[in-house]
Amino acid sequence: MEIQKQLKSHGAWVGKWTFILAATGSAVGLGNIWGFPYKAGTNGGGAFVLIYLGCIVIIGLPIMISEIIIGRRSGNSPINAMRKVAIDSGQTQAWQLVGWSGIFAGALILSFYSVIAGICLNYIFIAVSSSGAISASEEFGNVISSPINLLFWHTLFMVLTTLIVAAGVKDGIGRMVKILMPMLGFLMIFMVIYSIINGDFNRAMSFLFAPDFSNVTSDTVLQAMGQAFFSLSLGMGSIMAYGAYMPKNQDITSTSFTVASLDTLVAILAGLAIFPIIFAFNLEPGSGPGLVFVSMLSAFNQMQFGQLIGPIFFILLSVAALSSSISLLEPGVAYLSEEGILSRGQAAIAISFFVWVLGIGSALSFNVWSDFHLISEKNFLDSMDFLANQILLPLGGMLIAIFVGWFMKESLIKDEIGAINPVIYYLWRFFVRFIAPACVAYIFLSQIFDLNWIFDFYSG
Ligand code: PFF
Repeated sequence: MEIQKQLKSHGAWVGKWTFILAATGSAVGLGNIWGFPYKAGTNGGGAFVLIYLGCIVIIGLPIMISEIIIGRRSGNSPINAMRKVAIDSGQTQAWQLVGWSGIFAGALILSFYSVIAGICLNYIFIAVSSSGAISASEEFGNVISSPINLLFWHTLFMVLTTLIVAAGVKDGIGRMVKILMPMLGFLMIFMVIYSIINGDFNRAMSFLFAPDFSNVTSDTVLQAMGQAFFSLSLGMGSIMAYGAYMPKNQDITSTSFTVASLDTLVAILAGLAIFPIIFAFNLEPGSGPGLVFVSMLSAFNQMQFGQLIGPIFFILLSVAALSSSISLLEPGVAYLSEEGILSRGQAAIAISFFVWVLGIGSALSFNVWSDFHLISEKNFLDSMDFLANQILLPLGGMLIAIFVGWFMKESLIKDEIGAINPVIYYLWRFFVRFIAPACVAYIFLSQIFDLNWIFDFYSG
């Protein structure tokens, strides 16, 4: 029977901290430091933050626990993990499609993620030499209008990602996160302290934490949920793949809680690093995706020691991006190598090449292809982002919740979850069975049928 075929092993993380560092590295990325602040900014601040936190607790955390359960149960890549656990639970092998869709979504995300991470790498050098002679928006214009420039940095970022993943679970990813994550923590704390001392901290606090629900629409909720999935790296197999390497004696529930809390903490800290500076220099908090590249650079240009603080900020962004990009590549590489189709190194190169080519479309969408629309009014990058973040990730996450909640054998779940407070167990199970799928389904439906009137009704 096919299931008995021997899959190659990938090894396991050494010690409990490696999983926490790797999963937090996956979760903390551009989504936290670039995405969260600008989305909070364009969606009115506090209300978005509150809805986001709600999505993390009632949808994100239960699904994260589910992904790790499936991953660790099997020890394999998301495709084989879904297939094995489905078969062990007496279900159809077709559940492996969730793994396939995840790996496909991962490739789509990595393709544009790498282009934006490439811009961050470029900005480390721009921030060193920027003297304010040309405005920050002109500077950003120069960066994105040159296809060669974008492609150069995109290529460099993909090469770094490929090298780490090719080196293996223990010697590549495991070793790198032990260097990258403490560095990230240190840089983050430094930036926040700097902002508190030098920026307008009070305005930033009330902007982030005083909710104003008058502008909340179904789109705000959709964006907050998409952001929660993206930020926790859910719905596409990254956490499932990392869970496969988690030691058997590590507690899944408390570890997930730690990872989700650290991820949320970094998103909030990123807001506290950015908005005090934005307000102190009278810049616009709702300026959108350009917030860190245009507004922050403009602030660095005006501040004392800006040529030192600026590069530190962009190194922080690049480090966060790299520890996430490796988790986007890992699930596909794990699949090809465990099946014996390619060696780990070959698999990393093959998938990265495909992703790199796809990324060219996103790089060009800033310049020569800016008028080319793939999905409705969206350019190439926005179309990839939409397809992956607002369709594939929530769909994947919903199917994972449905699988674990309704189809996976409960004895297998209990084996993995181990000794746990029964109240927490039933609470988690209730969220996975009912709340998480229902919330995702609702938000999907509201996308299809415009449900904005409900919000209009409540906000008068
Ligand atoms: N969580 C990462 C971020 O917030 O930037 C991005 C990401 C990584 C998304 C891995 C999905 C994923 F599987």
